[in-house]
Amino acid sequence: MHARVAAATTAALLGGTVLILPTTSAHAADDEGPVVVAHRGASAYAPENTLAAVDKADDLGFIWVENDVQRTKDGVLVVVHDATLTRTTDVEKVYPDRAPWRVADFTAKEISRLDAGSWFGRRYAGTRVPTLKQYMNRISRNHQKLVLEIKNPELYPGIERQTLKVLSNEGWLDPGHLRSRLIVQSFSPDSVRTVHDLRPGVKTALLGTPSVANLPAYSRFADQINSSHSTISTGYVAAVHAFDGPHGKPLEILTWTVDDARTARRVAGYDVDGVITNRPDVVRRALSGY
Ligand code: G3P
Ligand code: CA
Repeated sequence: MHARVAAATTAALLGGTVLILPTTSAHAADDEGPVVVAHRGASAYAPENTLAAVDKADDLGFIWVENDVQRTKDGVLVVVHDATLTRTTDVEKVYPDRAPWRVADFTAKEISRLDAGSWFGRRYAGTRVPTLKQYMNRISRNHQKLVLEIKNPELYPGIERQTLKVLSNEGWLDPGHLRSRLIVQSFSPDSVRTVHDLRPGVKTALLGTPSVANLPAYSRFADQINSSHSTISTGYVAAVHAFDGPHGKPLEILTWTVDDARTARRVAGYDVDGVITNRPDVVRRALSGY
């Protein structure tokens, strides 16, 4: 198993800015194998990107959750995956004349009327699309840790600064959270770089599988490269680990979306730092002993 040093808090004074260096490995502990992250909450068991899904992860004993943030027409950050509301809410029924039902075309009040649970199962009827603020409150109450994906940032200019503001307001940019409770990720290198530039103490991740030749450039602002499990190999994981990230620690790699035991064991064999999964219980069982 890849050796990871769980270091203590490090603070550095850079250009008058106190920079808290993320020092905690994504590994739960050196001898515990890859950390398991509940994707969109425990989304195989509760409607994705809802408070019910992070509560379900909590019920199952999972600390790390992953969720997606976007922005409403009136500038409120909400937790939802798709650029439109059709797949995961009853928006077409409630607002039949508002095609194509983009998140960015609805106010927060309008979105708050939507049912984001019935599509998943009758017992979740009435579940709402949470605002980022509501969501942060819930995971704080659950003592959870967060991989927050800025989704479709090209649709929402300035969303990085706004997301950081909400995180700050909710107490998630204090040294303790920066050290071990928060990762901000995106498929957009520009978005990840912006987060890093605005708040260098935040641990960041670039989603995707960039070529090894591009890793040095990304390692200037991304602490992790988080890749689809179907795109990685032992060699790729080793190549990622060979570079240091912006905080002077080896780059880490979390892989997604792994929902079966065989794949979980395969990627653990590659020595990944974390596994992002809709079925965290399945992955935990598969990896017991890693
Ligand atoms: O965390 C990785 C994963 O969430 C990226 O893909 O489409 O599920 O947001 P997606
Ligand atoms: Ca995501």
